[in-house]
Amino acid sequence: MSILPSAGDGRVTVPEILSRKKFIPGKQAITERRITSVTAYDYPTARLVDEAGVDIVLVGDSLAMAVLGYENTLPVTMEEMLHHTRAVRRGVRRALVVADMPFGTFQNGAQEAVRNATRFVKEGGAEVVKIEGGEKRADLIRRIIDAEIPVAGHIGLTPQSVNVMGGYKVQGKDLSGIDQLMRDAMALDRAGVACIVLEGIPREVAVMITAEVGTPTIGIGAGPECDGQVLVFHDLVNLTFTAPAKFVRRYGDAAAVISNAVRAFRADVKSLQYPLDQESYHLPRETKAGLDTVLARKRALRR
Ligand code: KIV
Repeated sequence: MSILPSAGDGRVTVPEILSRKKFIPGKQAITERRITSVTAYDYPTARLVDEAGVDIVLVGDSLAMAVLGYENTLPVTMEEMLHHTRAVRRGVRRALVVADMPFGTFQNGAQEAVRNATRFVKEGGAEVVKIEGGEKRADLIRRIIDAEIPVAGHIGLTPQSVNVMGGYKVQGKDLSGIDQLMRDAMALDRAGVACIVLEGIPREVAVMITAEVGTPTIGIGAGPECDGQVLVFHDLVNLTFTAPAKFVRRYGDAAAVISNAVRAFRADVKSLQYPLDQESYHLPRETKAGLDTVLARKRALRR
């Protein structure tokens, strides 16, 4: 048995992610070890994201908005998340697959949370589950880890708390907010999570948290000093139909590519440019000759 953190076959493991902690006070960041993560919700996207070499494929509950057209992440169900996690699992060979526990599947007690987390592993093929919330979720997270299921933490702007926050607002902008975030991060660190997603917090606060905890931090709208970065796939390729948040960088324009392709198809059908002869199937020569003979006889009889 190997004592090295990798699975030995190139697959990304939890120990591999934990070993990527870059922040060593007083030293330069080890940039090539930065963790990259992108969301995926289906087989083709998962394959493309995995083959592009990202470390973590996240089946985020952003599925609700990005793919299912819900207004926020609250309505997405366990069954919907499992359905998409299975599709992603089939597309990923190398990256670590992390599945988001949707709203209402872990807040009602540890037993239910462990049962639902187990379903993500057994039925969905996920390797890690992600849970929103810090200090107040730490005991619950410990119970899930005790059940041999690694957990990713998620603090700061946690979208499942949209109604409590009164909208999607950057968190940790005042001293008490910073204090709470530090306590949240420390609690998750002590609970033994595999990584901590820091969403929508000031860069300065993300620097402090990243320096303080031994767990790798993965930022989204948390500045460049985190141990890694995550983006929602649909934000990254412009498939969201809404104005992007400040931290989003569009790396491609899939909306334009798809829209242009469908418009071109429509125009070609209408102008008889699609399908062409070489895009059509043909009868074998002998069948064609036989058919021509039959049709000629029919025509002759009709005269
Ligand atoms: O659901 C999601 O996509 C997420 C990321 C924004 C981290 O939680």
